[in-house]
Amino acid sequence: MRALMALVLMTGAQAGDIERGRALVEDRTQSLCLLCHALHSAGDANQGNLAPPLETVAALSPKELRSRIADMRRFNPATVMPPFRATDGLRDVAPAWAGRAVLTEQQLDDIVAYLGTLAKR
Ligand code: HEC
Repeated sequence: MRALMALVLMTGAQAGDIERGRALVEDRTQSLCLLCHALHSAGDANQGNLAPPLETVAALSPKELRSRIADMRRFNPATVMPPFRATDGLRDVAPAWAGRAVLTEQQLDDIVAYLGTLAKR
């Protein structure tokens, strides 16, 4: 554990926390992922079917996942997916959220770590 911490400190990398990521993806007040995406391809009546299931999306690399969740507009300017790390080009932002991204860098890492566990191999 100490060796791992040292490695994390040396590289400046933030290790994503799978359990925190799971909680965030399932949180319908902050991430909203399940409003549009289902977790699994089989679908779930309580989850969205507007977007590809997260278990298929999870085949992307951590870097690809990160950039898409941070701001899907880079890949599809007409996307309906919220840009979770952006503060620019947004409409109707509540005053309390002005200048603040929806997710922190650490939360983004946590979500990417959790999505990695969903990927079908
Ligand atoms: C309002 C609906 C909506 C919400 C909320 C949403 N997404 Fe999406 N997402 C989409 C749609 C639709 C796509 C398909 C690509 C497109 O249309 O831009 C997508 C695409 C993606 C992709 C890229 C897939 C690919 O193959 O390129 C990832 C990764 C992703 N979503 C993850 C997430 C995660 C994680 C969350 C929660 C933090 C989330 N999405 C929240 C609608 C949403």
